[in-house]
Amino acid sequence: MSNVSKIMESMDYGPSVEDSAAVRDWLKAKSPFGHFIGGKFQTPGKTFASSNPSTGEALAEVSQGTAADVEAAVKAARKAQKGWAALSGSERARYLYAIARHVQKRERFLSVLETLDNGKPIRESRDIDIPLVARHFYHHAGWAELRDAEFPGHAPLGVCGQIIPWNFPLLMLAWKIAPALAAGNTVVLKPAEYTSLTALAFAEICQEVGLPAGVVNIVTGDGATGAAIVEAEVDKIAFTGSTEVGRAIAAKLSGTGRKLTLELGGKSPFIVMEDADLDAAVEGVVDSIWFNQGQVCCAGSRILVAEAVADRFETLLNARMAKLIVGPPLDKSTDIGAIVDPVQKDRIQAICRAATDAGAELVGGQPGEGCFIAPGYLKNIAPANPGMVEEIFGPIATLSTFRTADEAVELANNTRYGLAGSVWSESATVATDLAARIKAGVIWINCANMFDAAAPFGGYRESGFGREGGFTGMLDYLAEPPVKPRKEPEAGAAQTAPGGDGQGGGIDRTAKLYIGGAQKRPDGGANYAVPGGMAPLGSRKDIRTAVEAAAKAGKWAGMGGHARAQVLYYIAENLSARADEFAKRSSKAEVQAAIARAFHYAAWADKFDGRNVQAKPAHLVNVLPEPYGVIGIACPNDQPLSAFMSLVMPAIAMGNAVVVVPAQDDPLPVLDLYQVFDTSDLPGGVVNIVTGSKDELAKVLAAHDEVAGLWYVGDRARLAGVEKAGGGNLKPVWSPAHRDWTGAQAQGRAFLRQATQTKTIWLPYGA
Ligand code: NAI
Repeated sequence: MSNVSKIMESMDYGPSVEDSAAVRDWLKAKSPFGHFIGGKFQTPGKTFASSNPSTGEALAEVSQGTAADVEAAVKAARKAQKGWAALSGSERARYLYAIARHVQKRERFLSVLETLDNGKPIRESRDIDIPLVARHFYHHAGWAELRDAEFPGHAPLGVCGQIIPWNFPLLMLAWKIAPALAAGNTVVLKPAEYTSLTALAFAEICQEVGLPAGVVNIVTGDGATGAAIVEAEVDKIAFTGSTEVGRAIAAKLSGTGRKLTLELGGKSPFIVMEDADLDAAVEGVVDSIWFNQGQVCCAGSRILVAEAVADRFETLLNARMAKLIVGPPLDKSTDIGAIVDPVQKDRIQAICRAATDAGAELVGGQPGEGCFIAPGYLKNIAPANPGMVEEIFGPIATLSTFRTADEAVELANNTRYGLAGSVWSESATVATDLAARIKAGVIWINCANMFDAAAPFGGYRESGFGREGGFTGMLDYLAEPPVKPRKEPEAGAAQTAPGGDGQGGGIDRTAKLYIGGAQKRPDGGANYAVPGGMAPLGSRKDIRTAVEAAAKAGKWAGMGGHARAQVLYYIAENLSARADEFAKRSSKAEVQAAIARAFHYAAWADKFDGRNVQAKPAHLVNVLPEPYGVIGIACPNDQPLSAFMSLVMPAIAMGNAVVVVPAQDDPLPVLDLYQVFDTSDLPGGVVNIVTGSKDELAKVLAAHDEVAGLWYVGDRARLAGVEKAGGGNLKPVWSPAHRDWTGAQAQGRAFLRQATQTKTIWLPYGA
């Protein structure tokens, strides 16, 4: 029987291999590659091979970047930055537009190169990665044009160091470079060591479009090169990769004042409800965990199915899984290509072994020769099984069941990550309820792994912070309008007064802590002398109790903006009624500013809107600001009342609960607020106040898992000490410049932005 007849008989796809001759010729002509610095390819240094994981063949030699290379690249970027930022938005837009056009013209070339270097199926690089790369540059050409109008007063950050992974090499480059350039920054980017080649092809595109020298610099190399970028004189680091490396980078940058965004790992839930369209959901699994060999940070790797439909779902899943073709990545009929490197293959297998050793059953998922692994899933798997906890980063899902929606949400959120989630239900009520309750930065309803330049992407919790894409993503490459900084009187160590209990001569008052809506003695019973009396010396234990109380105040977020506004108005009103009394302990200006903050954020409580973005036709894509949960706040050491209100009001207006360390050396004016809060219907636990040593207490907040974000006003070196004590506990830390807290610079959107993180919800609509 002829080959064709055989194929017709079996109805299998025949091989249809994409031609790679042009790419191979290019590689032959260009290898070995030097770095791309200041608009020119440099003489290659010490090189290493970039290979094709599907065959093991070496494709090209690329240079291992040294600290000196990185320094040269940063210098070139610094030199270019002023000129680049001085161009008009329209001029920068033209360059980005030209890059997009050139990417499109080279779509086939770039797809083949990406597939050769990474091992992903050509269908994916051709239909998903490269078109999205072009889309990113088009979209951000638009933001370049609109920057001044849409981000008034904002300025670029300067030079951005960008470190990207190997799972979507050129796409991750586009996610990083397009917004940075649109905002007016210049960049030094390091591709992952397994997949440098499309970044180098991109450097050629930069030359072709005449991008000014030094605006984009590409330095290749491994983790050591990445570490050198983190150490270099850059103004921001944008990193995508493992949580482990993200944690190390966060520790390195602590206290430097450099901006940081992290897009880290995930173990995202994929929830199939009883009323889901099961065929569609199975297709969703294919797009989720069997897309890109499962090497996707937001992969729906934990499949959770309603018990009532679990058997039927698994039967359908198995039937579909059996049809997936594992094969040569350049073959257009291949569904699953090669794992990026033998190291990663070993890692996937090691986790699977640990999972089966711990009692799980692996269905499919068998290794092939070379870098191939068949699709599979782990079943009968306990919640603490390593396969359920670790990011496998391969084509292996977990499959488990639940009985009720509440149980599904509990399982979904039972992870240290919070990158994405996919929810399948034919009921809008059920699906949106789950979308609201899953703690993750991206939710796909009845769809999976949708991406677009307009739709912000990024995580909650240990999946990182910051967003890429759209308006929100642009903000992460811009500096807020500058404020006039003021010098803060330094807080020393809070000293306990002799006599300790505050009954000493001339002292008129012993205050208490405020936790869970009640006044509490400090755990150790000690007080310290402050102007006007004695303040409680709060301890580690007091902070823990306060965080617990704050964590229980979750209903505050659910009350909605209107109800929260009523409480803030009430606070303003009650404070106004007692303004004269308050002014005796502080000053008129302080009290007036405090009242103004309550009114201001009452106004904002129901108006800090999300947006609906045009990511994809027939999809409603909503970007919603959500509160973090518990925010820890360490106040400056002067202007106690106005600073406290300037920081606390925006945080609670957005639905957060706070644990606040007020001005260490002068906290009593703040402690007078207890009665105001009590008489203003503020639910207990929303605001908790612990006085004492600012840095000691802030350290406990930094290290606490339940504290989702930390605001610290004060000296950078001291903040570094606070963050270090956090021990790599990944949370966004905001260090607002010290300013006149009675002035207009102490309120507005900048505070609200820090008080919220966005959740992007995709919902097919009208299709
Ligand atoms: P990785 O985090 O080591 O690599 C990502 C990038 O960071 C690469 O460019 C690498 O050269 C660079 N890098 C490594 N060490 C660095 C350091 N100390 N300082 C600065 N840059 C550094 O990830 P790896 O080892 O390639 O993969 C291990 C696991 O990480 C994967 O199995 C997966 O679980 C996770 N991962 C997650 C990704 C995501 O998109 N969230 C992407 C890649 C890996």
